[in-house]
Amino acid sequence: MELRLRSARRSVVEIPAPVRIVGIWGGELSDEGQRLDEHLKGKLSAILKNLRFQGDLGETLLLPMEEFHVLLVGLGKRRGISLEALRRVGAKLVGEVARLGFREAACETFLSEKLGKKEASAALTEGMVLGSYEFLKYKSRSEAKRLRLWLSRASSSAVERALIVAEAVCFARDLVNEPPNVLYPAELARRAEELAQLGLEVEVWEPERIREVGMGLFLGVAQGSAQPPRFIQVRYRPTGKPQRVLALIGKGLTFDTGGYSLKTSEGMSTMKSDMSGAAAVLGAMRAIAQLRPPVEVWAYIAAAENMVSGSAYRLQDVLKSLSGKTVEVLNTDAEGRLTLADAITFADREGAQTIVELSTLTGACVVALGNQVAGLFSNDARLAREIEEAAERAGEKVWPLPLEEEYRERLKSSVADLKNVAGGRDAGAIIAALFLSEFTEKPLAHLDIAGPAFSDKPHALGPAGGTGYGVRLLVELVDHLQS
Ligand code: BES
Ligand code: ZN
Ligand code: ZN
Repeated sequence: MELRLRSARRSVVEIPAPVRIVGIWGGELSDEGQRLDEHLKGKLSAILKNLRFQGDLGETLLLPMEEFHVLLVGLGKRRGISLEALRRVGAKLVGEVARLGFREAACETFLSEKLGKKEASAALTEGMVLGSYEFLKYKSRSEAKRLRLWLSRASSSAVERALIVAEAVCFARDLVNEPPNVLYPAELARRAEELAQLGLEVEVWEPERIREVGMGLFLGVAQGSAQPPRFIQVRYRPTGKPQRVLALIGKGLTFDTGGYSLKTSEGMSTMKSDMSGAAAVLGAMRAIAQLRPPVEVWAYIAAAENMVSGSAYRLQDVLKSLSGKTVEVLNTDAEGRLTLADAITFADREGAQTIVELSTLTGACVVALGNQVAGLFSNDARLAREIEEAAERAGEKVWPLPLEEEYRERLKSSVADLKNVAGGRDAGAIIAALFLSEFTEKPLAHLDIAGPAFSDKPHALGPAGGTGYGVRLLVELVDHLQS
């Protein structure tokens, strides 16, 4: 759906839209609802009395009046409302209004004692934009519905910020949803290059340069594909003196067949999403470029495709990393940690003070935490806390998992410094995180987003496909680091 959302100073009573949306708190009309009722000479409350519409959270009721329609939406108890509930109400409402055939609507901001005006404005805006997202590019005959929506008495600055963030989430979803024959490493790089329009510095390396620099792990993974890899670097430099340099790293496997440790058809069927970490990082950079926080942020993506061919890497190959450490490959499907290790070393050497890395890294993390929660690993307690707080504000769930030192020796190889898998299926997400932690001593956070990055069915804030998980969390994190 093509949504045009704007904040308006006027009350829903005064905005000349064919449908006016007002809330019901615990069975009673909201303040805006009461104003509308006065305008309608008490007809709204009279109807409500007869209907006994309690208005459970998210429940809607359309009432045709003489001049316009009124859409009532249940919000539950005023004190029980949360940011996430408002996001979901927003998403539900845009779907409902479009389904009912309206092309313009005015909605109140559902203010309550619990949430401030800014918070409520932002949550509703986010929910509405995310809920209106569709990926129709490859549907021959389908036109996006249009909807113009006025958010009455919202905080215009909060709406503007939320629009930037939510549109960045949609940008990340688009990247994930693109089919892998269209979005291969060079195309991902081209999409990153388009971000230069927003004032970001973008630099893309081709295989020759990647080889000169010595990213042997990354190249090993990439060598089986007819599509050459790209190393993508995006830099945001704030005006004035920056306080902290943050590096964001995203896993950028545009497709993961597993290589010679080949996946099953079923296992492979969602693997275009193996660049969701890269999508989240690029989405965050896009929003950061527009929001202009006073923190310096660099993004790195080692983009490759993990394929099977006569030139593909094998099991027992030994590769030399950028760091100098050698790695014996014992499973070609554990490719993400190889590409990421070189990116982490690079970020560290460039002088990043803090490194935050997102990857669809292990099926084991999905087994442990399911598709709603990302695994959070960090060698730094302060960084872990900052991420947990950012995640909480963003409404993107994370849960800490340990970098268990007792397991580290299981990554030792008999022929090289490290091997890329430990052997055995236990503690798979931890082993992967321990492998990454071999490549920097700086504060590092690794988010295993294999679960929440991709949804096989429609969810509260969007359709099946890429979710754009991580964009909102990263923007919140950067916003917090500035203070
Ligand atoms: N991209 C996959 C992880 C993945 C699995 C993401 C399911 C999303 C959904 C990753 O490259 C992989 O294949 N990991 C292996 C590691 C194993 C060989 C140690 C896995 O999880 O099976
Ligand atoms: Zn894999
Ligand atoms: Zn992978």
